[in-house]
Amino acid sequence: MNYRHAFHAGNFADVLKHVVLMMLVEHLKKKPAPFFYLDTHAGGGTYDLSLGESQRSGEYKNGIGRLLEFPEAALAPELADYVRLVKACAGPGRSAITAYPGSPTIVAKMRRLTDRMVLAETHAREAQALRSSLGWQKLVSIVASDGYAALKAQLPPRENRGLVLIDPPFETDNEFDRILGALETGHERWPTGTYCIWYPLTERAAPLRFRRNLEGSGIRKVLDVTMSVMPDDSAVGLRGSGLVIVNPPWLLDERLAELLPDLHRLLVPDGAGGTSVDWWIGE
Ligand SMILES: C[S@@+](CC[C@H](N)C(=O)[O-])C[C@H]1O[C@@H](n2cnc3c(N)ncnc32)[C@H](O)[C@@H]1O
Repeated sequence: MNYRHAFHAGNFADVLKHVVLMMLVEHLKKKPAPFFYLDTHAGGGTYDLSLGESQRSGEYKNGIGRLLEFPEAALAPELADYVRLVKACAGPGRSAITAYPGSPTIVAKMRRLTDRMVLAETHAREAQALRSSLGWQKLVSIVASDGYAALKAQLPPRENRGLVLIDPPFETDNEFDRILGALETGHERWPTGTYCIWYPLTERAAPLRFRRNLEGSGIRKVLDVTMSVMPDDSAVGLRGSGLVIVNPPWLLDERLAELLPDLHRLLVPDGAGGTSVDWWIGE
């Protein structure tokens, strides 16, 4: 498999995913009890967007690049928190795009010393990057193996509260089926955990089929949020992306319904596409 997240790091889909991830972690931090975080497809952890693949694709320019153009005071609090974290990762005096934080780095920055993280990544180079940047930290484990197997092995976590991020590269046709299998396994072992799944809006049929299969699975409390940056009939590969959240925190739906149109306005000045927040399955 050739997927390299550096091409896409910081793009509009990463921005949506990482803003929501931060909101989910903020919610977990409201209680003093430690939380558990599993990243089944962790990536390399940090990306220098001023180099190589990121510059070749230029995708970040329509994502984090856009948000960095605005003063923090002009941003909604959740977006300002995200921009501040991105800048903090680069460090003072350095361009904010030189150390773009992927999901493991975001959670590592936000967690308390008692919160535990397990990061699964099969690509040897990415797993090594994770080991050097985060592997030395207490309560952070890096497993260089299949994320779906890691999910089976790690759940239920001893903390009994926390979050699983499932963020696969969608390189294979059966990725939605694998996700469904992982969700069914996870939910059976740990029904109260929060699960956040990223998916691409490339064609219509696959997410619809995934929704139907989820409806038949017996899993309840499933929220779907999407942001597209091009019209629905656009022939361009990735016109948008979605996040399916099982057991979202209370009121996340209402907050995202306010926040996502704001985010979309900032990222897509010509207004193409749009956002949605829908309960696929209620209580
Ligand atoms: C979309 S990227 C992850 C990005 C990361 N979650 C973030 O938000 O910064 C997907 C990653 O999954 C890795 N990967 C592919 N197949 C995998 C598998 N079966 N198990 C774990 N990781 C896998 C790829 O090498 C790639 O780094």
